[in-house]
Amino acid sequence: MKILAIESSCDETAAAVVEDGRTILSSVIASQVEEHKLYGGVVPEIASRRHCEAINGVVRQALSDAGLTFEGIDALAVTYAPGLIGALLVGVNFAKGLSMATGLPLIPVHHLRSHIASNYLAHPALKPPFLCLVVSGGHSHIVEVRDYTEMKIIGKTRDDAAGEAFDKAARTMGMPYPGGIHLDQAAESGDPLAFRLPHPKVEGAPYDFSFSGLKTAVINLIHNASQKGESLPVADLSASFRKAVVDSLTDNFLRAAEELGYHTLVLAGGVSANSLLRRTMDDACRQKGWQCYYPPLSLCGDNGAMVGAQAYYEYLAGKRADTSLNARATMSIE
Ligand code: KG4
Ligand code: ZN
Repeated sequence: MKILAIESSCDETAAAVVEDGRTILSSVIASQVEEHKLYGGVVPEIASRRHCEAINGVVRQALSDAGLTFEGIDALAVTYAPGLIGALLVGVNFAKGLSMATGLPLIPVHHLRSHIASNYLAHPALKPPFLCLVVSGGHSHIVEVRDYTEMKIIGKTRDDAAGEAFDKAARTMGMPYPGGIHLDQAAESGDPLAFRLPHPKVEGAPYDFSFSGLKTAVINLIHNASQKGESLPVADLSASFRKAVVDSLTDNFLRAAEELGYHTLVLAGGVSANSLLRRTMDDACRQKGWQCYYPPLSLCGDNGAMVGAQAYYEYLAGKRADTSLNARATMSIE
């Protein structure tokens, strides 16, 4: 079954053709990041406008790269929640129009479920049940993936998402948006023990996260130093911050796996590109004899292929949208 999938939840206009949830026939991504960089973050109004301009060309390119026309497509899929409402609406309305014009069924896909599904494209052996750490710019969840379309959140952030914390700390250190990747690169040559930063725990909720105190600690360190006319070693500060975030993520994730009896652990979302997070999980799972999966770097960020992958399983579970489909800025993964 070949699905043409569309993604426009944030600052990437993307489309892909995916076969049976597992094989990428084409994947096209038009990124707006260079424009948002000028403002230090995504400007929602600009994002919506750029999606409108790009979406037709991106979808046509995805079809032609797959060597197909609409006759060769069995269903359409689109990200409908959560994300920037104006950005989501561009994809949703485009997909509804295509569905009406072609008569193809339309499958609505949750953005975080599709991040998890990016792993199915890279790891043919991976099947639920497993425990997944979903870490993106807007969310940090520990999710029990009981089946392809049956999920339960067992831990989440009480304040900032991990990606948001990375981006804000990086911005304070003068790195361009989105800063997570720059901070990760700077950290590779730094000493993670150079700065003592808080390793936050949430009282009474061992699987929940809190990153705002950690972020504020770094911002205060930088501001205090600059008031004294000093500058801090960026590599050491990046390494110390990265370690604090990754320790918090992996401590809770591994503890949850131990206590709930999961031995297949999966990373998903933009922050799953973090090199220390990947190394730490690899090492921990090797020692325990557990399986650890994460997407290739090309599938960690937002893309259309992951939408096509999850859409296949949503289709098998009977999920369809009609012309009343609307976008939603927030929606639980459950
Ligand atoms: O999943 P994603 O592409 O978009 C959302 O759905 O939010 O995640 C983007 C987030 C950004 O905060 C970005 O800085 C972060 O993922 N990110 C990283 C790395 N690469 C991307 N954070 C830490 N280390 C990285 N290597
Ligand atoms: Zn995302």
